Amino acid sequence: MSFAIEMKDITKYFPGVVANDHVNLQVKNQEIHCLLGENGTGKTTLMNILFGLYQPNEGTIIINGQEINGHHPKDALKMGLGMIHQHFMLVDRLSVLENVILGFEVGDIHLDLKNNYLKVKALSDIYNFGLDLNSKVADLSVGMKQRVEILKTLYRGANTIIMDEPTAVLTPQEVDELLVILGGLKAQGKSIIFITHKLHETMAIADRITVLRKGKNVITLDRKDTNADDLAMYMVGRHVNLKQDYGTHEPGPCIMSYQGIRLHKKSKSPFNLDIRAGEIVGIAGVEGHGQMELEELTMGLMKCKEGRILLKGQDITHDSTLARKREKMGYIPSDRHKRAMFENFSISENMLLGYQWEPQFSNHGFLKLQALKDHTRQNIDRFSVKVNDPDQRIGDLSGGNQQKVILAREISQDPDFILAAQPSRGLDIGAVEFVHSRLINLRNADKAVLLISADLDEVLHLSDRVAVLFEGEIVALFNKGELKKEAVGLYMAGHQPGVQS
Ligand SMILES: Nc1ncnc2c1ncn2[C@@H]1O[C@H](COP(=O)(O)OP(=O)(O)O)[C@@H](O)[C@H]1O
Ligand SMILES: [Mg+2]
Repeated sequence: MSFAIEMKDITKYFPGVVANDHVNLQVKNQEIHCLLGENGTGKTTLMNILFGLYQPNEGTIIINGQEINGHHPKDALKMGLGMIHQHFMLVDRLSVLENVILGFEVGDIHLDLKNNYLKVKALSDIYNFGLDLNSKVADLSVGMKQRVEILKTLYRGANTIIMDEPTAVLTPQEVDELLVILGGLKAQGKSIIFITHKLHETMAIADRITVLRKGKNVITLDRKDTNADDLAMYMVGRHVNLKQDYGTHEPGPCIMSYQGIRLHKKSKSPFNLDIRAGEIVGIAGVEGHGQMELEELTMGLMKCKEGRILLKGQDITHDSTLARKREKMGYIPSDRHKRAMFENFSISENMLLGYQWEPQFSNHGFLKLQALKDHTRQNIDRFSVKVNDPDQRIGDLSGGNQQKVILAREISQDPDFILAAQPSRGLDIGAVEFVHSRLINLRNADKAVLLISADLDEVLHLSDRVAVLFEGEIVALFNKGELKKEAVGLYMAGHQPGVQS
């Protein structure tokens, strides 16, 4: 069997880390091979080695049957390898055509542009990229820019294309389109190495899958011989219950009540919703339909011009964020970096954010340092934050551990209501499972939870009731399990399921 790519026993050290520990990878001709693993498992490093950006400390690389040593990216290109990085490498002020040809001109760039227009156009058309070669790259959507990057590698004769987490920057719609394009590339004989940590993408596109964990191979298998649950187990190293049934819980009295607020400039009618103690109400919807407004109005980060918001029967419509937190509202913001933490501050300092006036931490304006330290230590334990020292900078933690600190801070104040906005965005599977179980614990402890998430699976999985938001209005409100995902999707797109439009 000859392979498009073979990497044998690749080892790569960085100061203090073994990023790749005797890793093996074999990619067949004309296959889509997913390199799957959690953040920090060495996927990017392995691909940088393959592309010649890094030299391995040990190991062998064979491209199309030919062993290569000490190569550079330009050698890799000559051997038919293309790589599309997580951050695009395009020149914004130039056109699509100029970007494709740039750095690969044989003579005068102007002549090259003229002579190769048709060639680039033909390539773009074969794969249905829908690109206008004369548009300026700056004016393109992220999805389109990514196509320019693919076109660039094809123009250079790539046979094997490496894509590093290509869907991280895309909308769900753009992801679907990319998967179609990758299918087209394969049909034309290309091999694709697709790096991801997302299981449903892997199951949707891969022919074969290599799973890495902590810099080592776990397994390589055919997609048809596996499923998302098993892949999760290989990735995390223990059984992960992705479809755990969280059961039901009897709700209590209304805690949070939105009465006639306005979320979207297109709303014809206002937004009304009650959230009871002991229930999770999930908001489903395409982003931009009022989710951000709901988040900001709930926490007093935006002025409420219409209607009112009641917390435990008390009008909080015009209260400050701090006042709301004192009234026992917890908040997990969608923008973790902007709203939830200061990256340069320590974990203890971040544990204090928004609660610095609580008597627990403050004595007539003087910080009770020891109390804060003890509180932080306890929470680090209770929330299994992977860190040794509460004085460590929070910015140095992984996304999952940062989110655990934020959860710990908000939950430890024993809120009656908690707003969880995009609570598991960008987290590893293990951390997602952790966040979910904490939200369920809150529900089971009779807290009211509002979950806003762009991940429909997450909303359907966790919520006791689901409200579908479209242009700022609730177009469907149903109990867990009453509606199928497809029907929810139709409501999200502004259709009435079962009604022809
Ligand atoms: N240039 C570098 N210098 C030092 N350490 C690095 C470098 N690149 C990656 N690492 C470390 O190597 C490990 C693997 O990283 P990476 O290959 O980026 O993982 P992945 O792509 O799977 O998220 C991580 O611990 C990371 O911090
Ligand atoms: Mg990476």
